[in-house]
Amino acid sequence: MCAVFVAVNRTLLLSVSRPVLRMTIHSRTLVSARGFSQTTSQRNQQKWDLSPGEIRTMTDDLINQVKKVYDDIGSLNVENVSVENTLKAVANVKLDYASSRHFLDFPQYVSPAKEVRSASTEADKKLSEFDVEISMREDIFERLTALQKKHQGDLSPEEKRFLDRLVTLGKRRGLHLSKDIQEEIERLSKRISELSIEFTSNLNEDTTSLVFHEHELGGLADSYLKGLERTANGQYKVTLEYPHYYPLMKRCHNPETRRKMETAFHSRCKEVNTPILEQLIQLRAKVADLLGYSSHANYVLEMNMAKNARNVSDFLDTFYDTLKPVGVKERKYILALKKRECLMKGLHFDGKINAWDLPYYMNQVEQCKFAVNKDKLIEYFPLDVVTEGLFGIYQELLGLTFTKVEHPHVWHENVKLYSACDTETGEEVGQFYLDLHPREGKYGHAACFGLQPGCRGPDGKRRLPVAAMVANFTKPREGWPSLLQHHEVETYFHEFGHVMHELCSKTTFSEFSGTLVETDFVEVPSQMLENWVWEKEPLRRMSRHYRDGSPIPDNLLEKLIASRVANTGLMNLRQVVLSKVDQSLHTSSSADTADVFAKYCEDILGVPATAGTNMTASFSHLAGGYDGQYYSYLWSEVNSMDIFFSRFKKEGIMNPKVGKEYRRVILEAGGSVDGMDMLETYLGRQPCQEAFFQCKGLTKSHET
Ligand SMILES: *[C@@H]1O[C@H](CO)[C@@H](O)[C@H](O)[C@H]1NC(C)=O
Ligand SMILES: *[C@@H]1O[C@H](CO)[C@@H](O)[C@H](O)[C@H]1NC(C)=O
Ligand SMILES: *[C@@H]1O[C@H](CO)[C@@H](O)[C@H](O)[C@H]1NC(C)=O
Ligand SMILES: *[C@@H]1O[C@H](CO)[C@@H](O)[C@H](O)[C@H]1NC(C)=O
Ligand SMILES: [Zn+2]
Repeated sequence: MCAVFVAVNRTLLLSVSRPVLRMTIHSRTLVSARGFSQTTSQRNQQKWDLSPGEIRTMTDDLINQVKKVYDDIGSLNVENVSVENTLKAVANVKLDYASSRHFLDFPQYVSPAKEVRSASTEADKKLSEFDVEISMREDIFERLTALQKKHQGDLSPEEKRFLDRLVTLGKRRGLHLSKDIQEEIERLSKRISELSIEFTSNLNEDTTSLVFHEHELGGLADSYLKGLERTANGQYKVTLEYPHYYPLMKRCHNPETRRKMETAFHSRCKEVNTPILEQLIQLRAKVADLLGYSSHANYVLEMNMAKNARNVSDFLDTFYDTLKPVGVKERKYILALKKRECLMKGLHFDGKINAWDLPYYMNQVEQCKFAVNKDKLIEYFPLDVVTEGLFGIYQELLGLTFTKVEHPHVWHENVKLYSACDTETGEEVGQFYLDLHPREGKYGHAACFGLQPGCRGPDGKRRLPVAAMVANFTKPREGWPSLLQHHEVETYFHEFGHVMHELCSKTTFSEFSGTLVETDFVEVPSQMLENWVWEKEPLRRMSRHYRDGSPIPDNLLEKLIASRVANTGLMNLRQVVLSKVDQSLHTSSSADTADVFAKYCEDILGVPATAGTNMTASFSHLAGGYDGQYYSYLWSEVNSMDIFFSRFKKEGIMNPKVGKEYRRVILEAGGSVDGMDMLETYLGRQPCQEAFFQCKGLTKSHET
């Protein structure tokens, strides 16, 4: 129904400067069903052979049964609510729901049968609507509030956190307010939801293309040109889709072509989406006001590690202070490159860096300062070798042992199932599926899907968590293994980090299981583990030439590692710009969005927005559930670097003691503890930004 209320699938969209989609889907279920499944046993109870009819029936059954449990809780006399009949009853129904929902909603991404995928999409839609309905129940809210008043000191910390969370969520939906205010909020929220969908769909449907003569496309590879559609008179048609746009912006020698492309790209949907966005900003501010928050950003941030807009702004300002001189240096270098090229080619040198120069010269920096032969590199990363290396590293670090399950019950023959056990105790910790290759109708990116929560059942025993990693790695062919590019190896490590977060979870409540943590914390564990693909020893462990098994030559390895810091300043300044734009828009009650963007772009990135463009009209995060939260990318990267640098790098990146402590403090706790508290426990101090800059070779001491 409405964006603020619906439990959205959390989609971590790509950072604009780096088109690698990384998605973690944690169906953030608000409620769940008791009695649907009587099994409380410690096992993987997923069913992958349901027919479309069964999916439909089971979805309806699930909804009816959950509803009945809530009706029972809602009809309790408010006087005699107890932990048992209210809090635990809600916890149990949520657990059953979370355990049953995913064999209904997950097949939409992976089932080989189209009808099953459709039925699953339908089921997901129905269940999401139901989630909203449940989350709006005042009868439940009243009973939880009554319970909260009654119980101050006698709850366990996690019980208290759970109860407080439920009450807070109710208040965030306005359930404590008068009926007419509630109705107003509902009306506005519905409108926000419709406008967000419209904004996104306008963007998805944009088909703008530009036409160029061959001589305007100098610098682009033949394979790129061959992939373009031709017009009747032999010109080339270039769309604004990423696979067309980015290679052109990086490689086309012709500045005029790049100017036209950049202008078109940042003008996408400007007529339709600019007014929509500006309306969204006003509506969001209104809802926040009705709910008693000083801004939409403060409303959103309340549930995050950052807590409020002030903290975010302090974070960004501190970050910017350190980064600023790096940006100055990089711009100077780029401007020199540009001057040299203009002189050589007899082009007019305008003495400044334009928006359409940035990707082009950043690419040149990569090419001349950090050239990595990617065609050569890929030969050292056959999927099997990477998997073996990755498994080895994760097992050693976290104290786990993975065993392949023979003849598993799966949704496709290429899917593998593994069991993970604690190496010391032999206890089974969880199970995970790997579904790594593209398939007709399958989800096309890399993602981790939590399928069963890792928390306690009503009997007090831990339930077995189950997760799946889905990816789109090239399939092996006759005589050719599946070879991964280095960024795919990084993605593998990243998504597998989410899988481990799901599997190691040892919470009491399903609401806090695994990756159900704050939005600005959820990427910390997975990003932290990306660091292993930028270090020599781990890289050696996960690579071998696919033909002769030889190791990666040292100089190639060194170049790869060095390339990590290419353009760090400008790339991160751009993230600061986008974060600041998002914060600025969502701490105001109205805004001229293009103006706000232009201002930060000029002030912080030092490159003006191109006249007539309206970048914010295509800033998809602002309508995709990331409103007020774009800073999360930087925030979580900075924190993940702090963990890596301050613990692993200091005490040994393969040190099992540090790894196990990581598993215990961060992974097992899931969302049952504040992200900030976990960080402070693990670091032994408050987190800080220094490690990030050290890791990127940008410590202040390096500045000259
Ligand atoms: C609930 O409260 C009502 C009225 O206050 C009382 O009659 C009833 O016995 C209570 N039920 C339980 C199970 O305590
Ligand atoms: C952004 O787009 C709107 C709608 O086309 C337009 O009115 C406005 O002037 C644009 N802003 C800038 C700075 O170009
Ligand atoms: C953010 O602000 C709150 C007060 O609202 C404070 O308690 C907290 O420590 C701050 N967090 C950070 C990361 O600065
Ligand atoms: C997934 O892989 C297939 C086959 O290689 C490719 O056609 C498709 O574009 C990929 N999907 C994405 C989103 O990159
Ligand atoms: Zn992720």
